[in-house]
Amino acid sequence: MVANIYFGSQETSRQELTQRVSPYSGEVVSKAPICSAEDAQKALLIAKEAAKEARKSTISQRCSWLLDVAQRLRDKKEDIARTITDEVGKPIAFSRIEVERCIETVTLCAETMRTMHGETINTDAMPSGKKTTAFFLRESAGVVVAITPFNFPLNLVAHKLAPALVAGNAVVLKPTPEAPLTAYKFAKLFIESPYAIKDALSVVYGDADVGGALVSSDIPRVISFTGSVPVGNIIAKSAGIKKVSLELGGNAATYIDESADLDLAASKCAIGAFVNSGQVCISLQRIYVNAKIYDEFAQKMTEHTKKLVVGSPYDDDTFMGPLIDDEACKRAMGWVESAIKEGATAMLPPRVDGRLFYPCVMADVRDDMAIVCEEVFAPIVSLVRVESFDDALPRINNSPYGLQFSIFTNNLSLTKRAIYELDAGGVVINDMPTLRFDIQPYGGVKLSGVGREGPRFAIEEMSEIKSVVIC
Ligand code: SIN
Repeated sequence: MVANIYFGSQETSRQELTQRVSPYSGEVVSKAPICSAEDAQKALLIAKEAAKEARKSTISQRCSWLLDVAQRLRDKKEDIARTITDEVGKPIAFSRIEVERCIETVTLCAETMRTMHGETINTDAMPSGKKTTAFFLRESAGVVVAITPFNFPLNLVAHKLAPALVAGNAVVLKPTPEAPLTAYKFAKLFIESPYAIKDALSVVYGDADVGGALVSSDIPRVISFTGSVPVGNIIAKSAGIKKVSLELGGNAATYIDESADLDLAASKCAIGAFVNSGQVCISLQRIYVNAKIYDEFAQKMTEHTKKLVVGSPYDDDTFMGPLIDDEACKRAMGWVESAIKEGATAMLPPRVDGRLFYPCVMADVRDDMAIVCEEVFAPIVSLVRVESFDDALPRINNSPYGLQFSIFTNNLSLTKRAIYELDAGGVVINDMPTLRFDIQPYGGVKLSGVGREGPRFAIEEMSEIKSVVIC
């Protein structure tokens, strides 16, 4: 099936199409038009006009719009889950979870917008402010450009479209080239809703030239990007004076303390390291284990990992499907091989079958090995023996990334230290760092990005504060 362009509400087909093949079967699963920088410009001009109408619309209308989209998504749950699995090879059980999450994300954005409000400001606290009344309110920002990745091709689109539209903006979406049909089907729900604001959403497809034209244009006021650090860097440099929200990479870590419940920690860590085949920005990549319980934990972790079902993403029981492409498999295997050459030990024999990359637990690693310090974005996790939390802390923090970290402990003072001393956008206690509730603020420090997603936080990023003084 073909993903068409949306120039606002106008659906446009093209003769020339790119083909998307399933990462699992290699069969063609969808097609999408090749767009140009001119197409990007056309979509931006439409959005610029639509933003004027969107700004005048009521919050009530926009909330009804989102709630209608959430309902339509419920009705199409199985079809959209299947499309995610076709395009990116996500196991079907997890594609269904992603649709559920997306329904929640869209609903939460509507509910949040209903209750967001400005504040009065006590200008009479200033000697010169006597007899003044002041407050601030929020207004839409204008045009938002949303650029989204392949690993959650539905819910990460929702985390941009829903807050942007409910805040009264117009949006131009450029979805990942790996999942055009998922994005198209989702956008269609918005555009065909009876509550839709005409032309407030456009969808174009393409790579760097289209993305570059969208980002560097003077029309958008906000760029919201989720993806790699190199692309995030290019966007930050070419965006100019606008709001830029970047959700970039990570190399999430956890510390397993001697006081932890080891069965809980091992089972959670196996999920956190290998869910979505490690293709998650908060995938657990580094596990720092107290030396007193290292051997026992390593054993338990390996046992849990052995139980994970790797195979066809269409089987209900599959936990791990294929990696996104051959390049990802090659890169991941290269990292594992060089770590082994440099002295690391694989607790389970490294194995690749087509694009199925089996979960890989590495021991005897050093902090300077690529599997520890790079973002691997593959199912490879490293176990590192440490003497204490004080030994682990600087090693966890000594990363160019800072998205989410976690700790497993039953020691209250360590818990408090972890909250304040781990240098990341999020800290999780007694669970994997690969934990995201869609209602939470989500984003990182250092190279992991700028800004926060999550309904309230994204609405704030995608709106402007207006300050009002009545004299
Ligand atoms: C991400 O990879 O950044 C998204 C993780 C999630 O939404 O669960």
